[in-house]
Amino acid sequence: MKKIVACFFLLSVAVFSSSAQSEANYDESKVPVFVLPPLLANEDGKKVSSTQEWENDCRPEILALLADQEYGVMPAGDFSTKYEVVAVNPKSLGGKATCKQVKITFGKGYIEQPVILLMYLPNQVKGKAPLFMGYNFGGNQTVHPDPEIIPTSEAQRGAVRSRWPLEKIIAAGYGVVSIDCNQVFPDNRDGLRGSVLRLFGVNDETDLRMNTGQAMTAWAWGLSRALDYLQTDPEVDAKKVIAIGHSRLGKAALWAGAQDTRFAAVVANESGCGGAALSKRAFGETVAIITKGFPYWFCKNFNSYAGNEQSLPFDQHELLALIAPRPLYVASAEGDRWADPKGEYLSAKYASEAYELYGYKGITAEDMPPVNTPVMNRVGYHIRSGNHDITEYDWEQYLRFAKATLK
Ligand code: GCU
Repeated sequence: MKKIVACFFLLSVAVFSSSAQSEANYDESKVPVFVLPPLLANEDGKKVSSTQEWENDCRPEILALLADQEYGVMPAGDFSTKYEVVAVNPKSLGGKATCKQVKITFGKGYIEQPVILLMYLPNQVKGKAPLFMGYNFGGNQTVHPDPEIIPTSEAQRGAVRSRWPLEKIIAAGYGVVSIDCNQVFPDNRDGLRGSVLRLFGVNDETDLRMNTGQAMTAWAWGLSRALDYLQTDPEVDAKKVIAIGHSRLGKAALWAGAQDTRFAAVVANESGCGGAALSKRAFGETVAIITKGFPYWFCKNFNSYAGNEQSLPFDQHELLALIAPRPLYVASAEGDRWADPKGEYLSAKYASEAYELYGYKGITAEDMPPVNTPVMNRVGYHIRSGNHDITEYDWEQYLRFAKATLK
């Protein structure tokens, strides 16, 4: 029965998104004329010209606004946390990596929420390893055919192997932590009932206030809690943990990196609407489309901007700017018009003003770089040929970027 419901759900999402995708605007000449709120100005209009003013006033204002009006606030409250190393193989991936699986159990009263971190650490790195951490969509075992991976779903082993080129990442001297997002907040309309929000007394729709966070905020919170664990792991360089995510999980990585400055860098692969792309362009996926299709991703307040992007008191370049001065990489794909590559580029470019305050070069060119020609300053960007996906090419750029920026 569960499976039938899940299939029906997936089918209805697919039907919804294909009809929404064909109705969206892809015509540049129909992009509305829009005005972005100035990045370097406080809510009272006062201009910001130093990193101190940015950090003391402007940055906290933007963070609070995004939490209140878009992603939602994580409810507060006590809960318990238990760490257990449930499996270790020091000779994984042909002896090149140590595979470690750590179960974090969050608890509150009778509620227990287990989340398994699937970790691969490079054996060539003596001492603490830097690493990329991000969610997978459908189960830890989908990341690689490695039979030792503890499954977190019924999906096939290695099903999305191409999205996680572990051998290449390990050979470059980086580790990987992959987590099934469904263990933190199941990615469906009923997800709230199985999510970490239950630890805070949010059990169903009726417990949601207008600004209570849902999946995106829970996923961001989950990445921060995983980082809490990594800070205790002697094999991990917790000062070099890069939050990474593709698509919806790229939105979550950005929101995590924006809130938690312990993340050393953020990589958002084709994160699109509600991620890196500017909402006010209303190109491809819009606020109306995303809040209708995925009402459980954002807080309820965000719904009021559906079809009304021009009234948004912020835009997504402000989310990206919250990551400054830490390295940030935004990536698009040519065939992924749904995620609005140009909107992703412009957002990275406009966020660069915050990097410049710190004396870093961000994205400066007015025009997007040609396809497959990455720009790598403190802010990186590429548009790759091909469709919506995260590929080996994308990872190659992220590895180069990490090497160049995280010394
Ligand atoms: C849908 C959704 C996007 C999201 C994407 C994904 O297409 O509309 O906002 O980024 O799924 O996560 O793959």
